[in-house]
Amino acid sequence: RFTKALATGMAALFLLVGCSGKKSDEPKSKLLKLAFNQSENHPQYKALKEFGEALEKETNGEYTLEISPNALLGDQRAATELVQNGVIQMAVVANPVVENFNKDFAVIGLPYIYDNLEHQKEVFISGALDDLFGSVKGSGFEVLGAFTAGSRNIYTNKPVEKPADLSGYKIRVMQSDTMKKMVDYMGGVGTPMAQSEVYTAVQQGVLEGGENNEVTYVDLKHYEIAPYFSYTNHLMVPDLIIMNNSTYDEMSDENKVILKNLIKETINKEFIAWNENVEAAKKIAKENGATFVDVSIKPFQERVKPLQQSVIDSSENSKILYDAIRDLSK
Ligand code: GCU
Repeated sequence: RFTKALATGMAALFLLVGCSGKKSDEPKSKLLKLAFNQSENHPQYKALKEFGEALEKETNGEYTLEISPNALLGDQRAATELVQNGVIQMAVVANPVVENFNKDFAVIGLPYIYDNLEHQKEVFISGALDDLFGSVKGSGFEVLGAFTAGSRNIYTNKPVEKPADLSGYKIRVMQSDTMKKMVDYMGGVGTPMAQSEVYTAVQQGVLEGGENNEVTYVDLKHYEIAPYFSYTNHLMVPDLIIMNNSTYDEMSDENKVILKNLIKETINKEFIAWNENVEAAKKIAKENGATFVDVSIKPFQERVKPLQQSVIDSSENSKILYDAIRDLSK
């Protein structure tokens, strides 16, 4: 906690000092600083870059976007705090981070809730999540929309084809209770941790592996420490694009419409780019000795049913949301 507070404080200081260095005769363009925890190769980075260029153009230079990749401003939890406090204006954070502000978010990150990318895309652009996204306004930020991050799968030092293969295996999960319980139900030991610590933790035997999509698996070279990637397909966790409340509220109505339309367009493009990036990542992983294992998902699906049910039953809104998402399945 102390390290996190220190890191947040230092990032804040760094940003403030950076701002005060501006010359007063510079154009009055509003700078949107966005924290991103992945590299410049990530499809979301590319989509965000295009989004920034379009936003600048369409708002006639009133808004410019500056992306800080590679978790330079801290992990996703720290980035969320910076957005809440208005030290930065935007961030992309995985759904479990926002779940800590409103438990109903757990529904859109439930195991096996989406059938495939098409279904997820339909959910993200249909407006079905608008109420949920608006629900965290009181916490200091808006959720503008959701990117896909494909499907998540288990990787470790051996193939995982059935729940018993995970017995006693500590598998890193994102920092949420639902994620921990999920791996426990799947047969392993869910171990919450920041993404940046996973490589060393596996190397040192603190963990046996992790769970993620192919793109991040390769970006972070996790194939070096966990060469078997098994297609349990247990999750398709949304990555949420968040913006500081005041930044959003201060936008003119016209700019809000521009922002909204561009976000939608960006999300669409990122969905299209995702599959290509997965193929490219797999190629690199294989060249570096990784093995991809097909898995029959039924036993895992059965195992996580009690978790699904408890999240659905946790509130009336959760139930409505779950039904709305499943109704969009073809
Ligand atoms: C994915 C996701 C990130 C998240 C990461 C993680 O890469 O896109 O937003 O931070 O998983 O497991 O922490």
